[in-house]
Amino acid sequence: MDQALIERLENSFNLLAPRGPELVDRFYAHLFSKNPGVRPMFPEEMSGQKKKLLASLVLVMQNIRKPEKLQQPLIEMGRRHVGYGTKPEHYPIVRDTLVQVMSEMAGDQWADQLTEDWNAALNVVAGIMIEGHKLEEKQSQTQTAS
Ligand code: HEM
Repeated sequence: MDQALIERLENSFNLLAPRGPELVDRFYAHLFSKNPGVRPMFPEEMSGQKKKLLASLVLVMQNIRKPEKLQQPLIEMGRRHVGYGTKPEHYPIVRDTLVQVMSEMAGDQWADQLTEDWNAALNVVAGIMIEGHKLEEKQSQTQTAS
């Protein structure tokens, strides 16, 4: 990712980070209203999950200039998501929901370029998580076969 892109991601995230709890509240409200089918995958009580999602976004942004530090944690996170019933096709839904909510919250401070930027960044995150997803599936198939 080039320097200008990283700066745009950092600036837009820094703008919204103080409103992190509102961001994740809105994210899940949006996700579940548009995709009611995924609601049963999540616990009834969402406060812990909201904090974990926010912490993972903060972790990604804190390490965006050292992406090698993100590789392993994101692979592991993708592996764990297999157990939650997540499918690779869910990732674009989560990406689009997050971008939508961030743009709504940022209001006038948002620009179309940021939609492109965040889609690109979240595609990288999802791509690594899906790598983990595939590794996990492969491993569980091998275990079943042996
Ligand atoms: C950008 C992509 C995503 C990020 C950063 C993310 C982040 C997280 C984090 C940090 C957790 C806490 C547990 C853990 O670390 O293993 C979690 C749990 C979970 N995520 Fe994701 N996630 C992403 C994509 C998805 C997608 C696409 C789905 C599918 C709908 C999903 C569904 C879930 C579910 C069901 C749980 C478990 C809730 C529970 O049983 O406690 N996530 N996610």
